[in-house]
Amino acid sequence: MSHETVKGDAFENLLREERQFAPSPEFAAAANVKEGIYAEANADRLAFWAEQARTRLTWSKDFTETLDWSDPPFAKWFVGGEVNAAYNALDRHVENGLGDRVAIYFEGEPGDTETITYADLTERVKRAANAFEALGVAKGDRVAVYLPMIPEAVVTMLACARIGAVHSVVFGGFSSEALRSRIDDAEAKLVVTADGTFRRGKPSPLKPAVDEALAEDGHTVQHVLVVRRNKQDVAWTEGRDLDWSEAMASASPEHTAVGHDSEHPLYILYTSGTTGKPKGILHTTGGYLTQCAFTHSAVFDLKPETDVYWCTADIGWVTGHSYVTYGPLINGATQVMYEGTPDSPHQGRWWEIVEKYKVSILYTAPTAIRTMMKWGSDIPAKYDLSSIRILGSVGEPINPEAWMWYREVIGAGKAPIVDTWWQTETGAIMIAPLPGVTSTKPGSAQVPLPGIAVDVVDEAGAAVPNGHGGFLVVREPWPSMLRTVWGDPQRFKDTYWSRFEGMYFAGDGAKKDDDGDIWLLGRVDDVMNVSGHRLSTTEIESALVSHPWVAEAAVVGAADETTGQAVVAFVILRGEAELPSGEGADAEIIQTLRNHVGHEIGPIAKPRHILVVPELPKTRSGKIMRRLLKDVAEGRDPGDATTLADPTVMQKIAADLRK
Ligand code: PRX
Repeated sequence: MSHETVKGDAFENLLREERQFAPSPEFAAAANVKEGIYAEANADRLAFWAEQARTRLTWSKDFTETLDWSDPPFAKWFVGGEVNAAYNALDRHVENGLGDRVAIYFEGEPGDTETITYADLTERVKRAANAFEALGVAKGDRVAVYLPMIPEAVVTMLACARIGAVHSVVFGGFSSEALRSRIDDAEAKLVVTADGTFRRGKPSPLKPAVDEALAEDGHTVQHVLVVRRNKQDVAWTEGRDLDWSEAMASASPEHTAVGHDSEHPLYILYTSGTTGKPKGILHTTGGYLTQCAFTHSAVFDLKPETDVYWCTADIGWVTGHSYVTYGPLINGATQVMYEGTPDSPHQGRWWEIVEKYKVSILYTAPTAIRTMMKWGSDIPAKYDLSSIRILGSVGEPINPEAWMWYREVIGAGKAPIVDTWWQTETGAIMIAPLPGVTSTKPGSAQVPLPGIAVDVVDEAGAAVPNGHGGFLVVREPWPSMLRTVWGDPQRFKDTYWSRFEGMYFAGDGAKKDDDGDIWLLGRVDDVMNVSGHRLSTTEIESALVSHPWVAEAAVVGAADETTGQAVVAFVILRGEAELPSGEGADAEIIQTLRNHVGHEIGPIAKPRHILVVPELPKTRSGKIMRRLLKDVAEGRDPGDATTLADPTVMQKIAADLRK
């Protein structure tokens, strides 16, 4: 892993930010959590988490030990306890007389809608649990989920959790190649997919990617369950493929949930790291659910009786796991689920949805906020957004301009903004203001949550004083932490626990301001953040060099006003390759390579720019100097190149670019 030094300069402006917004006295008085919660958690961290676990979840067997950290970094939380995620998200609400409460307002991209109560959702999950069991899926088996944002995605996840099967959701924007490698790594027995979804009013297929992923023998998949969403004709493999609605119709609506061990695996979610191969992040049950439930209530100040919550994240990302499926449903929330893109059929679609369902808590990503800002304030102004009382941000640093726009234009200048920092690995929010307590600062996630020991340290692992920058670490285990990398415990240790003795290294740079508040500065490793999507430079480089035309490739994330970063690739072509020639050949080469990356990983990973270069800047030990390429990609003079094996390389690249 390479660690560039943390460059704080670009953020100096940010740190001169002096605006602060205190919660209104009314908001503070009615907030779910008050200032005293920090002292309570500090006084006895483990007692605090034990209390959260016992009050927020219904355990079928109480735990005997809060944390077993005898074999770090392998943690066990709520040892000996047994709990069922689906029971906590569904049955117990129905048993408590809340069966008629709306769990999900589904809004399809074409405008079809569905209102699903807790009683409905419980029945659907019970049927799905029975259907999965009938297909031979047992506790511990893995189920790959490749679905659009439709209720069946939530049903599938909870049905897996109910029977103790481990779901592995793969974002629908990933290619068949990416899907195949995830199915293989997890050795999935069942795949749940849909014929397709809708994108900008048109049917968009999904199942063909599953068929392609399973085309070759040697995989572990026995069945593919297909939701008929867009009703397009799809190829059908008799015996393997089954129709979702037929399977549900023939399954019993009765199913008794039993408790699973607190450390029973709940799900695997693959995420990009610093090497070519995505890591299967493993989350388990008791600790994960506890932190999801606590954070969802405390950070969003959820009032389940009156709030309408909407998290715009796709189920394919961790935000969709923790803050669409688990956190909100465990807390008995009413939420909106939307299938489509924000600009279909018009750029006011989101605000139309907010108005229609009276959304009171909105949770989205800075890239979306910046895009809407670009579209213009007159669009949201056409809708009644007065229901909004809390705004959340996640996935990348939010710049103060976007933060202010979000507050003024969407939040009418009064809804508190909670900028939430966390990761696939952390499972749930780690750093965020508490909306009834914290005076918020535009652009800062600010404060570690109660019971969470986050710090910023220098190269040697010593805490930096206020006003200084360094690396973001977590000093103590936390309930929703990843337990391992699926099938690769060594990689778990190496990636997260070896950089700093006894601390979890997040891969992010951060600064403490004079008040000790934390400002996130972006990744310090080879991970990019494009529109809030996490991509690995190495993974895209591997995809590029897998094409016969490419000899070598280097990928960097170049700063971009809207998407945060954009993928820029530098490639050296093979001398002996049979390349297109004649007019338009250059464009054809670049288009072919972009599509190749799309095929290997998915459209989100396609480089914005591909530059064909004669050489790449390398150190004498052969390491590619991505920093210099980043300078070029961002239009800066790369400056001192004397550490390069061939100091003239950058001039050659620059000359080439001028051509
Ligand atoms: O760099 C940080 C950035 O997103 C990374 C985690 O990405 P992922 O695992 O895909 O999870 C995203 C959703 C939780 C982090 O290492 N990141 C996430 N939230 C923030 C952030 N950067 C700055 N501010 C945030 N609020």
